Amino acid sequence: QSVAVLGAPFSRGQKRRGVEHGPKVIRDAGLIDRLSGLDYSVHDFGDLNFHYPEKDEPYMDVKSPRTVGGANKKLSTAVSRAVGAGHTLVMLGGDHSLGLGSAAGHAQQCPDLCLIWVDAHPDLNTPLTSPSGNLHGQPVAFMLKELQNKVPDLPGFSWAKPFLSCRDLVYIGLRDVDPGEYQIMKDLGIQYFTMRDIDRLGIQRVMEVTLDHLMARKQRPIHLSFDIDAFDPLLAPATGTPVNGGLTYREGMYLTEEIHNTGLLSVMDLVEVNPVLGASDEAVQATASLAVDVIASSLGQTREGAHRTMISSK
Ligand code: ARG
Ligand code: MN
Ligand code: MN
Ligand code: MN
Repeated sequence: QSVAVLGAPFSRGQKRRGVEHGPKVIRDAGLIDRLSGLDYSVHDFGDLNFHYPEKDEPYMDVKSPRTVGGANKKLSTAVSRAVGAGHTLVMLGGDHSLGLGSAAGHAQQCPDLCLIWVDAHPDLNTPLTSPSGNLHGQPVAFMLKELQNKVPDLPGFSWAKPFLSCRDLVYIGLRDVDPGEYQIMKDLGIQYFTMRDIDRLGIQRVMEVTLDHLMARKQRPIHLSFDIDAFDPLLAPATGTPVNGGLTYREGMYLTEEIHNTGLLSVMDLVEVNPVLGASDEAVQATASLAVDVIASSLGQTREGAHRTMISSK
């Protein structure tokens, strides 16, 4: 089993500087060593090098469309190549606009993938509904086939053809949903679990329903797109759009353990760690180290104990 790690130091899907340093702080928090300590051969593909068009006028309210579109196109090619080579891929962001390129590249290799989006936000605005004009609040809208006639052609996005059906998407952790996003979720009947749902059902039941929903007809590869702001800001303060009342550490570990236990995780994104926004060095370290824990847990680190194959095979 081999894991590839790919950094995407990109921040133009939103307005706050610093999230482009996410890959560096997550690596510095010990990611590669942690993954090597599981039973993987780890291939660090380094960071992508994005180039920026000189002029990138907004499209209506939407900021930097060519820059974001171009970066995502480049990311999608890299992800497709890594998955095609047989790696399980970890994509380190960068802002969450990158979820589009990552999942699109994954879909090129695995057209039957399903998407689990763990986030305080659904990132489902279209260029027409977005209250901010930030593309990190819109990546899912470009993925969904059912939304095709609601998403205008953005400059820089002509490569991005919708590849996902709304039945193949589940949200977990929502607590900040814009009116246009709510409308789309309801109209399309998207399966989602807000923090209130987690309060009511518990994370165990939420994961059970999530996986039953996605695997009802057949087992398929999982794309996990994990926005660090899904966690409570007390745990993950160094992020651009924190919202109170998020996942606890234990809910995050249970969620990711369950994903690992399916044996179906194919690509995961870990996005929106912004070291510039931590109030202190400790705040940044805590956020980065939480990101490492999430990735390790998704890839099989357990709280129960290690199961090195040389000692036993559980
Ligand atoms: N819903 C808001 C917007 O459209 C916030 C999105 C935050 N997204 C994120 N990836 N952190 O701008
Ligand atoms: Mn978010
Ligand atoms: Mn997000
Ligand atoms: Mn395992």
